[in-house]
This record gives sequence, C-alpha cells and structure tokens, in this order.
Amino acid sequence: MNLHLTNKSVLITGSTSGIGFATAKLFINEGASVIINGRSQKNIDKAIGLILDEFPDANISGVVADFLDKNSISNLIDSIKQVDILINNVGIYKSQSFQETTDTDWTDMLEVNVMSGVRLSRAFLPQMIEKNWGRILFISSECAALVPEDLIAYSTTKAALLSLSRGLAQTTRGTNVTVNAVLPGSTLSEGAENFLQEQSEKTNLSKKEVTDNFFKNVRTSSLLERFISTEELANTIVYLASPLSAATNGAAIKVDGGSIPGII
Ligand SMILES: NC(=O)c1ccc[n+]([C@@H]2O[C@H](COP(=O)([O-])OP(=O)(O)OC[C@H]3O[C@@H](n4cnc5c(N)ncnc54)[C@H](OP(=O)(O)O)[C@@H]3O)[C@@H](O)[C@H]2O)c1
Repeated sequence: MNLHLTNKSVLITGSTSGIGFATAKLFINEGASVIINGRSQKNIDKAIGLILDEFPDANISGVVADFLDKNSISNLIDSIKQVDILINNVGIYKSQSFQETTDTDWTDMLEVNVMSGVRLSRAFLPQMIEKNWGRILFISSECAALVPEDLIAYSTTKAALLSLSRGLAQTTRGTNVTVNAVLPGSTLSEGAENFLQEQSEKTNLSKKEVTDNFFKNVRTSSLLERFISTEELANTIVYLASPLSAATNGAAIKVDGGSIPGII
C-alpha cells in the first residue's frame, strides 16, 4: 500500500526510543522527512545513527527539548518552520498510590503528557489549516479507560488528551486537516523491557513467566495476552497520519490488544 507520505514533514515528540522511534523509522521507510526529539543530543545522535544505518538516504534530523521546561519548548517551536504531521507521543508515568502522588508528580505529568501537545498544536495547527492539509495525533493510553489504581494521575492526563484531540478536530471542519487520538495497550518499549528484566531478577522467574503473570494478574482484560510491539503501534500511527485516513477525524483509535472492554 502506498501511504503517499513522500516529502511530508513529521515531528514526533519523545522519539529517541520506544513507540516514537519505531514510528520515526516507519515514516522514513515511507519517504517522509522526520524530526525526532529527546532530552539529550547524545540520545538523538544515537537514534539518528541507528536510522541512517538502516536508511542511508533518510531525511532525518533531531531537536533537543525537555517538555518539563517551557523555554526548551519555545526554542523547539522557534527552530521548526513548518510541519505537516505532528505526533504528540511524549509521555511519562509513575506507578504509585493516589496518596503517594505529590503535586509535583501531578504537574510534571500534566506538563509533559498534556501541555506538550497543547503548546505544539497551538503552534502548528494554524499553518496546517492555512495550507489545508495536516495531521495531528495524540498518543493516549488504554489507561485513559482502564484507570489502574497505581496510575490515576497518568490515566487522568491520558483521558485529557481524548478531549483535547476531539476538541481540536472540531476546529478543522471543512478542511483536509484531521486530529485523532491513539490508545495503545501494554507495549514492549525499552521501558517495558527493563521492567520485565527487573521483575525477572527480583522474582527468579523467566521473562516469559513474568509476562504471563502480568497478563494473568494485572492486565487481565487483554485479549491479546502479550505485549504489543512498537512496530504494531507504529503501523496504525503512520496510517492515521497518511492522506489515506482522510475520513477519520476526531476519533479515538484503540491499539490495545482488546484490553478496553466495549464495542466502540
Ligand atoms: N509502552 C507502553 O506500554 C504504553 C502504553 C500505553 C501508552 N503509551 C504511551 O505511548 C507513548 C510512548 O510510550 P513509550 O513506552 O514508547 O515511551 P518511553 O519508551 O517511555 O519514551 C521514551 C522517549 O520519551 C522521551 N522523553 C521522556 N521524557 C521526556 C521529556 N520530558 N521531554 C522530551 N522527551 C522525553 C525519551 O527521550 P530521552 O530519554 O532521549 O530524553 C524517549 O525518546 C507515551 O505517551 C506513553 O504514555 C505507552
């Protein structure tokens, strides 16, 4: 399938690893020009190096910005002239009880998970409307609907993205710009790999046993009963960012392995 992404310019936040990195690779494979982001030049250089090893002609660059730092975000916006496709992917979480979650934890998660997308959409949506083409995607989470008790603050930010995404979509009426949200389920990013490794060492169980226990005892609603790969997430994200997805606007698309119950 030709996704018609050649020469489209893409900005993906939090993309030196995980879902963002897999998405960057897939966009490059489709001929798009990609700007990746992370908090350090070192990680950006490493990620760009990995992409160039696989795609020597890739049109790839990187911009350092920490979404906890407003100045850093302003610098990022000033340094990028224009984007056709904005993937609001960056997200942080802390597994802890509601009582343990401090004001700082709440504001940090709100800044990185929600305000990053608010600020970038405010900067780039008007030019998409002006150009009469563009895509904005918000990477939410199954947690927006499942709301695990140890992730109440994180889940709240991910639910907020659904309203933000739907609201912005409504401002695109009559244009070829779309705004959608994607709800990933438990995905095998580097963070999840490290978690499995740590649990395996702590419990003397194999990584496979730890994974099986996770789906048996924690993410019990998953129909897939395995972690989703970052590439499986990237497939949906890149499709939704392509001209082929023109009729999908204001939607919340689940890529959750069936973990969110319900028929829509
Ligand atoms: N993995 C899952 O199971 C899962 C499930 C549902 C939803 N999601 C959502 O999917 C998105 C991607 O998840 P992931 O697991 O792939 O993420 P991840 O592996 O935790 O993300 C790491 C990336 O985020 C960047 N990053 C972290 N804090 C940042 C900050 N303050 N400013 C800028 N960049 C920052 C890191 O850059 P550097 O380290 O290079 O600075 C790196 O590129 C997130 O929004 C997450 O909430 C993930």
